[in-house]
Amino acid sequence: MIKSPMTVLQGKTIALGITGSIAAFKAAELASALTQAGAMVDVIMTEAAQRFISPVTLRAITHRQVATDMWEVPAKFEIEHISLAEAAKVLLIAPATANTIAKLAGGLADDLLSTTALATKAPMVIAPAMNDDMYAHPATQQNIARLKERGVLFVEPSFGRLASGKIGQGRLAKLEEIIGTLSAVLGREGELAGWKVVITAGGTREPLDPVRYLGNRSSGKMGYALVEAARDRGARVILISASDRPAPAGVAVVRVETASQMQVAVAEAVMGADVLIMAAAVADYQAKEVAAQKKKKTDETQYLELKRTPDILQGARGHFVRVGFAAESEDLIANARHKLDEKELDLVIANDITEFGSGFETDTNHVTMISRDGGMEALPLLTKREVADRVLDAIMRLARLRGKKKNHGEGLE
Ligand code: CTP
Repeated sequence: MIKSPMTVLQGKTIALGITGSIAAFKAAELASALTQAGAMVDVIMTEAAQRFISPVTLRAITHRQVATDMWEVPAKFEIEHISLAEAAKVLLIAPATANTIAKLAGGLADDLLSTTALATKAPMVIAPAMNDDMYAHPATQQNIARLKERGVLFVEPSFGRLASGKIGQGRLAKLEEIIGTLSAVLGREGELAGWKVVITAGGTREPLDPVRYLGNRSSGKMGYALVEAARDRGARVILISASDRPAPAGVAVVRVETASQMQVAVAEAVMGADVLIMAAAVADYQAKEVAAQKKKKTDETQYLELKRTPDILQGARGHFVRVGFAAESEDLIANARHKLDEKELDLVIANDITEFGSGFETDTNHVTMISRDGGMEALPLLTKREVADRVLDAIMRLARLRGKKKNHGEGLE
């Protein structure tokens, strides 16, 4: 049976504060996504929030009591805001109004949400949603800056059509972004806390002229899944991306286009790194000459002169665990082993790109992991996120075997 990956949200108690924004209805979808990911969601609603969405909806979604009133006699003999504050691994406020943000910045405590916020030691994540002028107002911006100084994380509102009909910045951030930030916060205590992990993703593009390029079919999905998995285990992740996909929340991203640019970015990023995972499909060739102007068509047959790009993985050496990918269409294991030896890798992830559900552009992958010490593990068809978690397990095993134990800030030796 395919086991679903342990996401960092599994089994965690999350206090979800909902305030009186028109975006309050989106909190229902957020609560649902968190619950489905295995989190215990304790919803706290302000009075204004209840004018936009009913606590009954949230109770049905989370299968838990929804806290609304400080003066209600609690079912158990517990002071409600204190027990909520203590149970929470993280306090997420989404959507957060200008008023709630102002109250939190000033340390006011006049309802259940603000008292919980003041009483909790858990990290706080705030996703504001409001009118664009209210968001841009110096008072709001100063309040946000004050809260950031105290370590509160903000998921910035996005631009778009607001309730007023105006276009501006004030829409509640996308749910993936909010959940991504939450995962990054919860992952801080994970087994990769203190590790620096560099991951490349996507297919490089080698220009032919200002309009055209040589590319490949890599979508970047496998690399991005690795980035999210490493982040959720607490690693400091640097993503070097040749893909157009938006970067996962909580991750530093360096955008590149060509193999040469990726080589420069990798050389810089691996300084002090513990792991390098080259999941990118790096072009092996680039045009010998890149035309300065757009090439005009002619009736003659055209020939392209190509030269090799730098081999990034071959050149990236150091005390870090080096992981490569081998995308093959024949002789999978033999070809992958050859790459492992040639590039002196610690681990190679081999996949047969001709197989259905495996390789480029799919959401699943069928891989075999081969390690330097001779170990070989063939995984079943899994989602790319599941594969990512298994790859990280293997990396940690290798690091441990090599005596390269890493814990909370100690460097690999
Ligand atoms: N790689 C790299 N730099 C390159 C090419 C590939 O760092 N210029 C990395 C890839 O990110 C991947 C691994 O090396 O992790 C793939 O090895 P490679 O032997 O280059 O694979 P292919 O390009 O598929 O080579 P071949 O044509 O030999 O199959």
